[in-house]
Amino acid sequence: MSASKATAIAHPNIALVKYWGKRDPALNLPHQSSLSITLAPLSITATVELGGSSEGVVIDGKIAEAAEHSRVEKLIAPLAAGRKVRVETKGNFPRASGLASSAAAFAALALATRKAAGLEESFQEASILARRGSGSACRSIQGGVCVWHKGARPDGLDSFATQLFPESHWPSLRLLVVVMSTEEKAVSSREGMRRTVETSPYYSAWPALAEADVQAASALVARRELPALGELSERNAWRMHAIALGASPPLCYISPRTLGLIQELSAARRAGLEAWFTLDAGPNPVLLTQASQEEAAAELARRCGALEVLRCEAGGDARLLDAHLF
Ligand code: PMV
Repeated sequence: MSASKATAIAHPNIALVKYWGKRDPALNLPHQSSLSITLAPLSITATVELGGSSEGVVIDGKIAEAAEHSRVEKLIAPLAAGRKVRVETKGNFPRASGLASSAAAFAALALATRKAAGLEESFQEASILARRGSGSACRSIQGGVCVWHKGARPDGLDSFATQLFPESHWPSLRLLVVVMSTEEKAVSSREGMRRTVETSPYYSAWPALAEADVQAASALVARRELPALGELSERNAWRMHAIALGASPPLCYISPRTLGLIQELSAARRAGLEAWFTLDAGPNPVLLTQASQEEAAAELARRCGALEVLRCEAGGDARLLDAHLF
């Protein structure tokens, strides 16, 4: 079989209703559905070659560490049919921004791998493959607002994301990634989820709450109701952090400076600012606001110690590119 190469690009995504807890850690199958928005202009490009003369995984110009290499290998191996695998990925935003770059990377990898393996384009199949690299990656295959349906099958074939609204649905929506710290988090999402599911007495309340939040958030996005969506996002993030705090040993992903920003934000809202936060398992919040308030929200973030503010809008689908990285 001759060598075959393909390249794809994907945006990261930020969950407004978080995924926290796996019912199957090997297949990244969640206990609950989740809802997210893709973030443009942030993106990761990935080139995959199957059956070439060389092999290896290079991320942003550096040879991947063993753990990263094996995650990539695990995703591609079933489609490589024993052929050599060479991968390169390149992002246009700092990996240390705390934003889940793995979501965009695995979404781009899934698309490129399927193409290199000669499979036809399918959002659903690509979402399922991306999910196996990193759960949240299944929500970066399509643009706009996506829902990851938890599914019920043990093989995960009904656990994938679909698009609820395209990126054109809400042109005035803005998302500001606030980089408060570039340090890598002490406890990975994978370990944090495991610990929360196994030891937090509050975890049992989470799946049903998240499911209801997905329904409510979908309706609010449909009506473009920013204040109610902002409140829902904050409440959902607080509850994710609350169940994690209840784990043993406890998981605290919130730094004092991040908490400071959250308090300033809520004070600024009382004075009329229309901006809300969400927070993944790290110190860097993402602010939800509208175009007319973007500058004021970015200014508040900088005043609270942001090292950088990445201004984003809803992004489009992951897609194949003609130009390869190698
Ligand atoms: O997909 P993972 O394993 O990187 O986990 C993502 C977990 C959160 O970012 C905290 C929530 C989410 O839904 O993206």
